[in-house]
Amino acid sequence: MMMSSHHLFWFFLLSVSYLAALASPALLFQGFNWDSWKKDGGWYNSLKNSVPDLANAGITHVWLPPPSQSAAQEGYMPGRLYDLSASSYGNQNELKSLIDAFHQKGIKCLADIVINHRTAEKQDGRGIWCIFEGGTPDDRLDWGPSFICRNDTEYSDGTGNLDTGEDFKPAPDIDHLNPRVQKELSDWMNWLKSDIGFDGWRFDFVKGYAPSITKIYMDQTSPNFAVGEKWDNLSYGQDGKLDPNQDAHRHALVDWVNAAGGAVTAFDFPTKGILQAAVEGELWRLKDSNGMPPGLIGLQPGSAVTFIDNHDTGSTQKLWPFPSDKVMQGYAYILTHPGVPSIFYDHFFDWGLKEEIGKLTAIRARNGINEKSSVKILASDSDLYVAAIDDGVIMKIGAKYEVGDLVPPNYQIATSGQDYCVWEKK
Ligand SMILES: *[C@@H]1O[C@H](CO)[C@@H](O)[C@H](O)[C@H]1NC(C)=O
Ligand SMILES: *[C@@H]1O[C@H](CO)[C@@H](O)[C@H](O)[C@H]1NC(C)=O
Repeated sequence: MMMSSHHLFWFFLLSVSYLAALASPALLFQGFNWDSWKKDGGWYNSLKNSVPDLANAGITHVWLPPPSQSAAQEGYMPGRLYDLSASSYGNQNELKSLIDAFHQKGIKCLADIVINHRTAEKQDGRGIWCIFEGGTPDDRLDWGPSFICRNDTEYSDGTGNLDTGEDFKPAPDIDHLNPRVQKELSDWMNWLKSDIGFDGWRFDFVKGYAPSITKIYMDQTSPNFAVGEKWDNLSYGQDGKLDPNQDAHRHALVDWVNAAGGAVTAFDFPTKGILQAAVEGELWRLKDSNGMPPGLIGLQPGSAVTFIDNHDTGSTQKLWPFPSDKVMQGYAYILTHPGVPSIFYDHFFDWGLKEEIGKLTAIRARNGINEKSSVKILASDSDLYVAAIDDGVIMKIGAKYEVGDLVPPNYQIATSGQDYCVWEKK
């Protein structure tokens, strides 16, 4: 059958937009904070009002809170995994409706996958909390002590394999070497995709099990995008100051990503930690001994998800917060640099930075800056960091105002704010 020129035209347009959608570099958004579950009327319903703003900012993926019934309101102590209606963020229909609203704007949704540990539904005859229920009428995910790692000391009735990772003290650590565990958790994740609409994963506490286990779940669920939380504290000196060299930490992330199969990415904790020290008048920290960025983005940028704060480091927990008055310098850095940047709900909405951050995301999109963009560091003094990204963007952060002749005359200011500026080639 011949296509009329009219049809050909639409076919061409559709193909172009399809390719553009495929090629669009990922830009992540964390769609909740530590207190989101308290929202009147439900968090899922509330976040739905933010979908247009997030679409305008060019967000491609939104990370949603753990969806299942949980002993802790925030969702990180899940029990009945298939029960999505006992969540303090809203019920299953509200979640599906939220995901649908994101999909209508072309934004994909990541589920927060908490599988290292699991809370039991009932005690056994000895009073130990070790009888799990999946939340379905059949026996899927209905487990007992043989599914708990046998060296989980807090739950000493476990008879499974030895834990392949670190212990999580508040709940039983699940034996991921058990083939039924692998099968039933993969089935559950695939159900989150097929029936609820999720597109990918944010893996919680991946230190709790071996990277080869993450690889199994990646292979069996083929997410559109996935990122793991491997959070190790950085190295600090005796004076409490961050060590200039955090190479061991970023190499550990590279090793984890590679052992997990290479398709999963990792939160770039080294970049966060170094950046939040650097913006306190120590911008020399932002160049490693090879002249590259000192975080994971300087080593394997395609595997890095950069961020300023999350529900643990910032929010109301503030376990390791970025200096609050320098947050925009942080965004000026991650939104112009390689890696996949992640924007935090609090900064974008609660702190009123939507417009300012939006200018940076627009510059990133306009110039095709992506996870593997090149960086040339032009200055890294205490009070001035200047870098050229690819062949069209130059950025600076730091209190020093004068950038001298580092910015050629064929560049013009694209946006600026307190102690940061970004130029584009005319
Ligand atoms: C359990 O055993 C494994 C393998 O020996 C070890 O790596 C892990 O640290 C142990 N966990 C606990 C809680 O003892
Ligand atoms: C990591 O740092 C936090 C806060 O800085 C501290 O509470 C925690 O104990 C540290 N963890 C380890 C394993 O050192």
